[in-house]
Amino acid sequence: MPENILIVSNWKMNLDLNNAKRLINNLKKIKFSSNSKITNIVCPQFLLIPYISKLLSFSTIILGGQDCHLKKSGSFTGDSSIDLLKYYNCKYVILGHSERRSQYGETNLTVKKKSEIARANNINPIICVGESIDLRKKGKHLNFIINQLDECVEKNLKDIVVAYEPIWSIGSGVIPSFNEIREVKIESINFLKEVKKIRDIKILYGGSVDSKNINSIIKETGVDGALIGSASINSDEITKIITNVDFD
Ligand code: PGA
Repeated sequence: MPENILIVSNWKMNLDLNNAKRLINNLKKIKFSSNSKITNIVCPQFLLIPYISKLLSFSTIILGGQDCHLKKSGSFTGDSSIDLLKYYNCKYVILGHSERRSQYGETNLTVKKKSEIARANNINPIICVGESIDLRKKGKHLNFIINQLDECVEKNLKDIVVAYEPIWSIGSGVIPSFNEIREVKIESINFLKEVKKIRDIKILYGGSVDSKNINSIIKETGVDGALIGSASINSDEITKIITNVDFD
């Protein structure tokens, strides 16, 4: 088992105020073991953040954003700034999610710039990488992922959190084999250590994680936690995920 386990909820564009409040109240009721290693991070859509931030004062649940702009402020209609994430006490930000890459044309360079402004504001980026089914079938997934890391990640960082999310696993109910996850984890760590000179590296897995597969994913692959989409907006599921991992 890793020293710390990050459970990151990616609510995406889901939940209204009432459902978000209900879910947060249920998350707050979770009883942790005395030596719990879990860091519970919740990433709501932007307009929910001020409200959730209030609900989370005096809570151990940590708030995160699903994206940020690469500039501090300016004429960027529809975007949200890192300053506001910081103001509302966000400690993490998901960057380069495959939905941002495919639907908004986000490039590796954009992700790198967003990561730089997040770090400059003491917000930890969670850098998402992962291959399409096509690349996986052609056996080109490792090259693709290492290139993503190469172009998204700065050198000589003190620490980094990377989420390996194969695109074909997101929302599909299909997860890679443990060997496949382990392979990406090991290759990514080697690259980040040797080429990027980063010491403290956390690799999360994301894609169809639920309360049934979470424990074996963590145990069998040694990843440092999970980035969770659909199961994270289901109160019973996310409660089970956290308690299963905590008491395993
Ligand atoms: P999923 O989504 O858990 O619904 O597969 C994961 C993600 O997109 O981060």
